[in-house]
Amino acid sequence: MTIMAAGGAGAALTNLVGAEGMNATTEEQAASAVPIAPAFGGKHQPKPLPFDPAKLKGISEKLIKSHWENNYGGAVKALNAVEQRLGAMVQDKDLPAYVYGDLKREELIRTGSVVLHDHYFANLGGDGRPTGKVVDLIKQWFGSYEQWEAEFKKTANALGGGSGWTILSYNLHTNEVHNYWAWDHMHGATLGYPLLVLDMYEHAYHMDYGAAAAKYVDAFMQNINWDEVNRRAEAMPTRK
Ligand SMILES: [Fe+2]
Repeated sequence: MTIMAAGGAGAALTNLVGAEGMNATTEEQAASAVPIAPAFGGKHQPKPLPFDPAKLKGISEKLIKSHWENNYGGAVKALNAVEQRLGAMVQDKDLPAYVYGDLKREELIRTGSVVLHDHYFANLGGDGRPTGKVVDLIKQWFGSYEQWEAEFKKTANALGGGSGWTILSYNLHTNEVHNYWAWDHMHGATLGYPLLVLDMYEHAYHMDYGAAAAKYVDAFMQNINWDEVNRRAEAMPTRK
């Protein structure tokens, strides 16, 4: 399949071929020479687990591997396929915009899944003992670590039996820190910069805990990699 670049493809074609005398074969050759625009590259790769999946507390190796391979890996593959298909479809001038919009919706869903899973796995594998700058932020915005933890867990448990994410975020617009509720991959708070991400889709715990989502939330807290959370807090842009 030949996928042309989204922007400037026509101009590039003209430049390659000249004003006249172009046959179909030459057209195809010229089109194939146009590089694929990066937005339609579909080159995302899953990030390796940054911890030994056999060593988490209360979350089994079998579950983590299945989650990483099937759900996260599947999201990466789907995002790549969607981007490449968008690159092909955008060239079709007869394609109704509402049909294109269906795939743009998929792009948003898959992007959310990949980004949030990247963060989720990266903030696992620690000892669960909070330290560093993020603790100061938590105390500033929630009064104490205990009050923050209670709200974070309550938000997560509200998603038990369904789907979604619980995300401790720094909001780049309001300059506030909140535990945001997200029903799906598209529900991230606008301009929320994720510091700590908890996957509340059933696939993240059902194999180990069945419907007992609260036990999974407790296990998650014991495995938080606070060094990674602090790395994010140190790296985040802030508005003065
Ligand atoms: Fe997941």
